[in-house]
Amino acid sequence: MNMPLAALPHELLDPKDCPFAKDVIAGLSQQPKRLSPKYFYDETGSKLFEQITLLPEYYPTRTELRILRDCGAQIAAAIPENAALIEFGAGATTKVRLLLQSCTLGAYVPVDISGDFLNDQADDLRGDFPDLAVYPVTADFTTPFELPPEVKDMPKVGFFPGSTIGNFDPHEASAFLRSARAILGDGATLIIGVDLEKDERVLYDAYNDAAGVTARFNLNMLVRINRDLGANFDLSGFKHRAIYNRDRHRIEMHLISRKAQTVRLLGQTFSFRTGETIHTESSYKYSLERFAALARGAGWESRETWTDPDGMFSVHALVAKPEPKT
Ligand code: AVI
Repeated sequence: MNMPLAALPHELLDPKDCPFAKDVIAGLSQQPKRLSPKYFYDETGSKLFEQITLLPEYYPTRTELRILRDCGAQIAAAIPENAALIEFGAGATTKVRLLLQSCTLGAYVPVDISGDFLNDQADDLRGDFPDLAVYPVTADFTTPFELPPEVKDMPKVGFFPGSTIGNFDPHEASAFLRSARAILGDGATLIIGVDLEKDERVLYDAYNDAAGVTARFNLNMLVRINRDLGANFDLSGFKHRAIYNRDRHRIEMHLISRKAQTVRLLGQTFSFRTGETIHTESSYKYSLERFAALARGAGWESRETWTDPDGMFSVHALVAKPEPKT
């Protein structure tokens, strides 16, 4: 039975049956401690992320939207007529709507783990684009999944905006690109948004906004663990910090313990030293060349790249390289 976490008394929760509990325990047992960024997005976290995208310091969302708008005709030219557009991790439909205005698709296949949200978005889209066939797929897009049979004979175009690929470590990014190559098949195209390296101050400010929304987003992970797993994190005992790790080309988000403290979670105790961190997210920033090399190593060739005039963000059209014959 798939019981909502909040409905189950925490004493009855067995980490073996709950991937969230298992991941949190494993992450807090590591040195340095870590938590997966995929757990940011409960209802509150998703709302906070929407707020982040509107912050003056957070340039990625509006810059990518600008590229999709300004270069819409060129991007549409990379999408074959009557293709099936498969969006990995379909969130709000703002970005795909921009593509839909400039190209004629055979079908739209949004793929997301959250089925309810996905179906609501699909209904909205059907209302606004009555001629568009929409086939939502509820799946974890980072692992192999089946495409709907209806799109079998259509040319395939993947869509992965938002620089979500930046939240994957390089080996995960490469694994995702390989998996997308396998799912989409020979001859496929992938349209992908990738955040670019830039002045460190701009990056720092984007993840340490003056209004403190990113701090609330980061700390909400602990709120979620308290609520869903019955932990006793003292929120005032942790603070948000984002730093740019130049050697690894990534922003790192951390929750820093303000004091020596212990936290109880599902019968286990985790100790924190003053200043000890939990690494909650990495956001990798690429150069155009480094991203093209990553894609090449995972079976994709760069066809075309678009950036904004200030070179802050990039959108790439990749084409699947033919599989070597064995
Ligand atoms: C979703 N992802 C691309 C965001 C990013 O910029 O890495 C998540 C985020 N974290 C803090 N602010 C935004």
